[in-house]
Amino acid sequence: MEEKFAKLIIEGKEYKLPIIKGTEGEKAIDISTLRTESSYIAFDPSFGNTGACFSKITYIDGEKGILRYRGFDIEDLVENLRFVEVAYLLLYARLPNPKQLQHFSDMLTEHSLMHEDMRHFFDRFPRGAYPMSILATMVNALSTFYPNVDAQSMKENVGRSAARLISIVRTLAAFAYKRSVGEPVVYPRNDLEYCANFMNMMFDSPVKPYEPDPEIIKILNMLLILHADHEQNCSTTAVRTIGSANVNLYSTISAGINALSGPLHGGANQAVMQMLKRIEKGGDIKKYLERAKDKKDSFRLMGFGHRVYKTYDPRAAVLKKSCHKLLKRLKIEDPLLDIAMELEEATLREDYFIERNLYPNVDFYSGIIYRAIGIPEDMFTVMFALGRLPGWISHWKEMVDQPHKIVRPRQIYTGKRKRKL
Ligand code: ACO
Repeated sequence: MEEKFAKLIIEGKEYKLPIIKGTEGEKAIDISTLRTESSYIAFDPSFGNTGACFSKITYIDGEKGILRYRGFDIEDLVENLRFVEVAYLLLYARLPNPKQLQHFSDMLTEHSLMHEDMRHFFDRFPRGAYPMSILATMVNALSTFYPNVDAQSMKENVGRSAARLISIVRTLAAFAYKRSVGEPVVYPRNDLEYCANFMNMMFDSPVKPYEPDPEIIKILNMLLILHADHEQNCSTTAVRTIGSANVNLYSTISAGINALSGPLHGGANQAVMQMLKRIEKGGDIKKYLERAKDKKDSFRLMGFGHRVYKTYDPRAAVLKKSCHKLLKRLKIEDPLLDIAMELEEATLREDYFIERNLYPNVDFYSGIIYRAIGIPEDMFTVMFALGRLPGWISHWKEMVDQPHKIVRPRQIYTGKRKRKL
């Protein structure tokens, strides 16, 4: 018989805690009333063992290497859908029919232009400013251009707010790039689909028109789909946490962008490339493996390891395969791909990595693909943010659609006891 309660005995007293089950069989113990009943709290720094919400969006089995959005395997989604369709799926929990897709695409088109006054903001950032910081600032600034859009009205009109964000962030990202290379900005075009429009804004120039390559557009769709959601990761948790205070959606997403920029999170894709380049220069993979294993050294093998996956990250598996195919198709020989493969093979022979289940994650091969399609290194994490937008917004939407409270963990105080001045 299935247990409905877990029993906890503290100081001789028994507490019955409800057992919760998910649709894929994950189990949890509901401790939400534990403090009221016993004065004890659960202690779980960095939330490695804490379920913070019910969610119907994304399912991960970290032991088996499974990732599904709304029940569909990630491998099927990248094979058969475009990013805009997956964004719709995440946001509305269903695949769009042609009419719904047209309506969603029209809304993306309608909102692709930012307020012209915002364009001048770019002139004031220092040269060489980190694009993720620029992006987070600009997205936060959207809340000043749409000041009347509070959490309640956004909830009521989430489709418009989501479309505006997904569309404008793409424009902001491309403008930030053009500014960084000192070229005139290219405005979005209504006749181009989402990814082609982005590539055109990035690479079209008054002296050399951009010709979209369907293969590159397909790869970009795949990259964005692979990054579109990953349940309760650091940046999504930031979005849910900030959003729980009923903050305007733009400011909430800006917090997610900042969280993603960290090198332990989305910033790892750029750090991987820097690591591979350093290995290319110094030529010594062994030295990097020794450093990664050395507990006195803070160095970590970037693009390896994951809080949830204890086997190969399914996104990394798709990326590795695509990386080979794309480079062959574009006739590119990238020595960094050889180094990456050599590094991965070397870790498979090392007990340190085997014992700790450290395999390549989504950030390990993505940079080599971005590089092959012309995306500069300091834009890698911006690309991740562009892909993750539908996920962040879907989690925000899911949260505000349910009864929810402000997120507020507790602590165990370990400071000084009361003393006199
Ligand atoms: N290189 C060397 N050792 C590692 C690495 C790594 N990349 N990752 C984990 N370890 C080791 C830890 O030192 C620890 O060893 P110990 O048990 O002897 O102390 C053990 O493996 C477990 O690691 P934790 O830090 O406890 O794992 P956690 O779940 O907290 O961290 C994280 C996950 C942050 C992704 C970590 O693996 C890491 O720093 N990886 C490198 C950065 C990276 O690639 N980040 C991108 C992740 S994917 C994403 O966010 C999109």
